[in-house]
Amino acid sequence: MTRINLTVDGARVADDVEPRMLLVQYLRERLGKTGTVIGCDTSNCGACTVHLDGTSVKSCNVLAVQADGAEVTTIEGLADGEELHPVQEAFRECHGLQCGFCTPGMIMQSVALLEENPQPSEEEIRLGLEGNLCRCTGYHNIVKAVQHAAGQGAGQGATS
Ligand code: FES
Ligand code: FES
Repeated sequence: MTRINLTVDGARVADDVEPRMLLVQYLRERLGKTGTVIGCDTSNCGACTVHLDGTSVKSCNVLAVQADGAEVTTIEGLADGEELHPVQEAFRECHGLQCGFCTPGMIMQSVALLEENPQPSEEEIRLGLEGNLCRCTGYHNIVKAVQHAAGQGAGQGATS
């Protein structure tokens, strides 16, 4: 077991974990953060995307011990109380989801994308989301949602 200390969605946590435990397993199984989902076992789908020190990562591709000392934000830490994050709100308004399975990862990736590039072109949005797969929407409304969020200034001063 290895001792880790990290911050998850604003709360400090300390735990002993197996060195081989994945960050996504830690978030879901130890912390109950089941909003972060597992959609594949090949690191392809992006459903498990979270922010690690402000950078989006596929949490099935990161060991929990690698998050030692880091700040992790999951989909469950995005909203401000009852108020949705502007990107969450944009997905809701633009119907950027159907079954919702890919949505946590899509939103986390979109937030990171907009923080890096607050006014992306459609091509840049599609490129930025290429590591996130959706089986339902055809991506059209997802792209619209990100454009809408950009128009609302979601990438300017939004927290991650
Ligand atoms: S569960 Fe992580 S990429 Fe699919
Ligand atoms: S909304 Fe169903 S997988 Fe994307």
